[in-house]
Amino acid sequence: MISESERNQLVTAAVKARCNAYSPYSKFKVGAAVMANSGKIHAGCNVENASYGLTICAERSAIFKAVSEGEIRLKALVLCLEGGGSPCGACRQVIHEFGPGIPVLTCDPTGRILTETTLDQLLPEAFGPEDLGN
Ligand code: THU
Repeated sequence: MISESERNQLVTAAVKARCNAYSPYSKFKVGAAVMANSGKIHAGCNVENASYGLTICAERSAIFKAVSEGEIRLKALVLCLEGGGSPCGACRQVIHEFGPGIPVLTCDPTGRILTETTLDQLLPEAFGPEDLGN
């Protein structure tokens, strides 16, 4: 669970990060922000490439920034996009690694909340670190 104030901070960060989207090919801008257990927010955007398959989504961009700073426990994610949408399958798997079951919210570029769900609902019966048995 996150507080109202934490949610507002995440929305603000995701909206802002979306402005930095590098998406000349799809023209689709996405921003994401995650809150680590420390309370710190890490934000990211989608970054495309002329070699299309190398594109990274906003969610993974934000999560990898968090992990790069030593933050491997996440407590919420907000995704900012226009016209609705939901994290892609690859991103759901990566969210599960660092934030199993966390709240996942979407908002539009004005910061209006569009959807609110949890990773458990988005990726039931997820494969995770515990399944490796080590
Ligand atoms: N995209 C994201 O950043 N996150 C998602 O969950 C879905 C898709 C990006 C990838 C690509 O740059 C653009 O949106 C169109 O697929």
